[in-house]
Amino acid sequence: MVFFNGLFPSVFLAILYASNGNVAARPPVAKYPTHHVRDLGNGVKVPIFHPQANYTTFGEGIEVPLSFAGAGIEDNTLSFVSSQLGLDFAKVSYKSGYIRVNGESFGYAKQVHEGVPIANAVANVAFKDNKVVAFGHSFVDTSKIADSKPSVDVSTVIPKVESALQGKKNDIQPTLEYLAQQDGAVALAHVFQVQNEEAGTWYEAFADAHSGELLSVTDFVAEASYRVLPIYKQDPMEGLELLLDPSLPSASPNGWHATNGDDTSGNNVVAYKGAETNTTKQSSNGLIFDYTYDPSVGPSEGANADVSRTNAFYLTNAYHDTLYQYGFTESAFNFQNDNSGKGGVGGDPVLISVQDASGFNNADFGTPPDGQSGRCRMFIFTKTNPNRDGVLQNDIPIHEMTHGLSNRLTGGGTARCLQNLESRGLGEGWSDAVAEWFVRSDTPDITDFVIGAWVLNDPRGGRSRPYSTSMTTNPYKYSDIAGMSDTHTIGEVNESFAKYDLTDSIP
Ligand SMILES: *[C@@H]1O[C@H](CO)[C@@H](O)[C@H](O)[C@H]1NC(C)=O
Ligand SMILES: *[C@@H]1O[C@H](CO)[C@@H](O)[C@H](O)[C@H]1NC(C)=O
Ligand SMILES: *[C@@H]1O[C@H](CO)[C@@H](O)[C@H](O)[C@H]1NC(C)=O
Repeated sequence: MVFFNGLFPSVFLAILYASNGNVAARPPVAKYPTHHVRDLGNGVKVPIFHPQANYTTFGEGIEVPLSFAGAGIEDNTLSFVSSQLGLDFAKVSYKSGYIRVNGESFGYAKQVHEGVPIANAVANVAFKDNKVVAFGHSFVDTSKIADSKPSVDVSTVIPKVESALQGKKNDIQPTLEYLAQQDGAVALAHVFQVQNEEAGTWYEAFADAHSGELLSVTDFVAEASYRVLPIYKQDPMEGLELLLDPSLPSASPNGWHATNGDDTSGNNVVAYKGAETNTTKQSSNGLIFDYTYDPSVGPSEGANADVSRTNAFYLTNAYHDTLYQYGFTESAFNFQNDNSGKGGVGGDPVLISVQDASGFNNADFGTPPDGQSGRCRMFIFTKTNPNRDGVLQNDIPIHEMTHGLSNRLTGGGTARCLQNLESRGLGEGWSDAVAEWFVRSDTPDITDFVIGAWVLNDPRGGRSRPYSTSMTTNPYKYSDIAGMSDTHTIGEVNESFAKYDLTDSIP
């Protein structure tokens, strides 16, 4: 679903890595692809397609057409949807709605054809004081729609689908629904659920009611889940969350894990501790990485090292998928093991070493040319007791990954360009800016930004001044760079090898 809330220009698209909650509160737009191909593993591939959604807001609101307006939300919803989309009442069916005390009400409708509902073709209308303030819908064109009477009985398609999905139909009654397809046709489908208790699979199957062919599935089982600090949060004080399926199929079409893999390694990243083979395994079947962070013990105690690898794996992948939408793709020299023939050189996932033994109170990212892995080392911070883990201060790993981004993008993938003092300073500044962009994406307010505060246990964080629009809070100007010799300080416009040198920059 694509929702624009009007606060940000449409070019400011970002991916919502949350488990879908709170869409309205987060300005960067949730942009999921409308379709992808789902490989069910046994040679069966089915397309997953959702009609394009369209969402419009009307400022102070527009009147419901008087000729239609009735007494309740149901009438108003049906009137508005049918008048906006030029459909007669028989094509729109009311689903549900509710009224809030402050005069707001919300109505939901779905599209029907000859009494048969069209799957995922829905509409929502928001009213305030009886005016419509917002309208969203994913209704589809029905000019190429199949006959509404099935020509193949459901009992004959069930065995075929059971065998394709390697499960058994459960006792939920089959229904008849239309299913919009990517080519614009709308098929009539028998819809029923197929489960396999042992394998843990549970699908809703859409089988063509005229040809018997399996058209698509809804997968009721989340593909993967991770207990992590979402990429729009800055540090663990904001709370870790269990995110379901945060991967983005258009950026990572085969998901985040290696085929048959069940640990924190995959096409875009290997997150490990000590040795590259020392990854974190799923905590339970179905790619569930649910380890509980315990702030009362050190970073390597209890499950905390697994939390660290899980967060590093999630963050690096989420970063990959987000930047992919903005053009940091295979042909633009990104970091991936298999480039699926889409250009650039493969064989270079990010290798992220957590709680790396070679240092403390810092992190770094070494960027070689396209085709060789970027190496990120994340260290433990020793400013507190117990110590803290740099991986859980999201702005730091994001800062590091942005060194990979800027070194690959500047100069065509050679990683040779950002070497002199001022260009390295630019690299540091870009890394802080991208970190801010991610961790502040849940608020439209532009307030002062401090990086690394939690892990350093210092409200001033890792830079000499906060990033600020106030010349009093941060007085640095471009001309100040003339007197500076440190890349991070230049990055602040006031700081050795693409390094996040926190300690050196604390005033
Ligand atoms: C979205 O809906 C609005 C209002 O119904 C309409 O004016 C606009 O053309 C639609 N845009 C698309 C891309 O369908
Ligand atoms: C593997 O990781 C664990 C923490 O989960 C750590 O204690 C151990 O030393 C690591 N092993 C190697 C060989 O680095
Ligand atoms: C920049 O910050 C450093 C500390 O990181 C400080 O020593 C230096 O005086 C600052 N430079 C300017 C121009 O304020």
